[in-house]
Amino acid sequence: MPADVLVIGLGYVGLPLAREAVRAGYNVTGYDTRAEITAALNSGCSHVDDVPDGQVAQMRAAGFRATHDEASIGQPDVIVICVPTPLSPADGPDLTAVRAATETAGSLLTQGTLVSLESTTYPGTTDEVVRPLLEKVSGLTAGIGFSLAFSPERIDPGNPYFGIRNTPKVVGGVTPGCAEAAAAFYGRICASVVLAKSAREAEMAKLLENTYRHVNIALVNEMAIFCRELDVDLWDAIRCAATKPFGFQAFYPGPGVGGHCIPIDPNYLSYKVRTLGYPFRFVELAQEINGRMPGYVTERAADLLNRHAQPVNGARVLLLGVTYKRDIADQRESPARPIARKLRRRGADVRYHDPHVEQWQVDGQDIGRADDLAPALAAADLVILLQPHSCYGDADFSAARLVLDTRGFLPAAANRETL
Ligand SMILES: NC(=O)c1ccc[n+]([C@@H]2O[C@H](COP(=O)([O-])OP(=O)(O)OC[C@H]3O[C@@H](n4cnc5c(N)ncnc54)[C@H](O)[C@@H]3O)[C@@H](O)[C@H]2O)c1
Repeated sequence: MPADVLVIGLGYVGLPLAREAVRAGYNVTGYDTRAEITAALNSGCSHVDDVPDGQVAQMRAAGFRATHDEASIGQPDVIVICVPTPLSPADGPDLTAVRAATETAGSLLTQGTLVSLESTTYPGTTDEVVRPLLEKVSGLTAGIGFSLAFSPERIDPGNPYFGIRNTPKVVGGVTPGCAEAAAAFYGRICASVVLAKSAREAEMAKLLENTYRHVNIALVNEMAIFCRELDVDLWDAIRCAATKPFGFQAFYPGPGVGGHCIPIDPNYLSYKVRTLGYPFRFVELAQEINGRMPGYVTERAADLLNRHAQPVNGARVLLLGVTYKRDIADQRESPARPIARKLRRRGADVRYHDPHVEQWQVDGQDIGRADDLAPALAAADLVILLQPHSCYGDADFSAARLVLDTRGFLPAAANRETL
């Protein structure tokens, strides 16, 4: 049974995985190129919402250590790669971090090591990019000298019900033996392991999940726009449709998609499909529709102000919730930023309120933070609710002049309308 685990990349995916591996009894080291992250973790401070400081202390007490020094890693039995897979300037895959982490892993391989890639990427990456690099650096052969698998991270940050342990873990090996080794490793961490036919199917499973969300969110976003013109309350229509006990899953309109997954991962798939000479039309359409939502929200804001005889220019606009997701601090790709940018360009005086964000910048400029919600609501000409953080559930919005609720979160009232 392998005992020494190395997690490469200690971010939103790597750190919770390291915690679960520690809890499962593995001896875990975390490697990250950012020295400030490893130093903070070694002093008990977490930078990831889902792993509070107290849990880092527990990990440390159980032997976890973080390092940014490759030379101090030792010889792990299992290496899990959890590094970012962003988009290149041309919106294609940027595998720079995956390649660098693979080189690190390759230099640490010994007979029998298991390497698992968790970073989201296009089908074929494990076999065509990671495998040859590992073989070149280590001199060993996948499936004989070492095991190699892909296992997508399915983490849902901030979800209080599903985490790594109780979410089935999909595992695909580059050979059946590799899959078996990976399943044995994850089987100690997760309640259930689902074997894919190979690494390619495991890679595709993750992209299918995210593309499915992306496309369905785009569907309701497009419907939100025309339902308003048809005088149909889409939120109510979704509520009714969602009572069907089979064949329907509710998705809701919003100000646009954010985070590291939904706006980015489907691009990895459409890039791969384009190499075949044709586009992945569903994804490209979803990108177009979801990408237009910040502009649509801005237009709706302008329209609402206009109906109350006020121009956007000079209007005091308060944005509520600027993170990409409810009740977490992650701001990556949040649609709040393009919305603030568009409003500011039209002359609005934009401020924000968000209990999870101490400071917020748009285009390098600080946006004023409202510390207290009640006076900020009363002072604004227009309040735009972008993220339904729990704290807004109990708030009294009656003093707000105008409210645009982009999430269908607030009860109906005379001073507000939904997207
Ligand atoms: N955040 C999510 O909710 C989520 C969910 C599922 C899958 N994913 C995928 O998981 C992967 C990681 O995402 P994340 O959100 O954890 O990213 P992140 O940016 O939070 O963390 C990645 C960490 O890797 C480190 N790193 C970069 N290059 C490195 C290298 N060569 N060696 C060591 N460390 C290195 C970075 O310093 C950073 O701390 C991505 O492919 C992402 O698409 C993310």
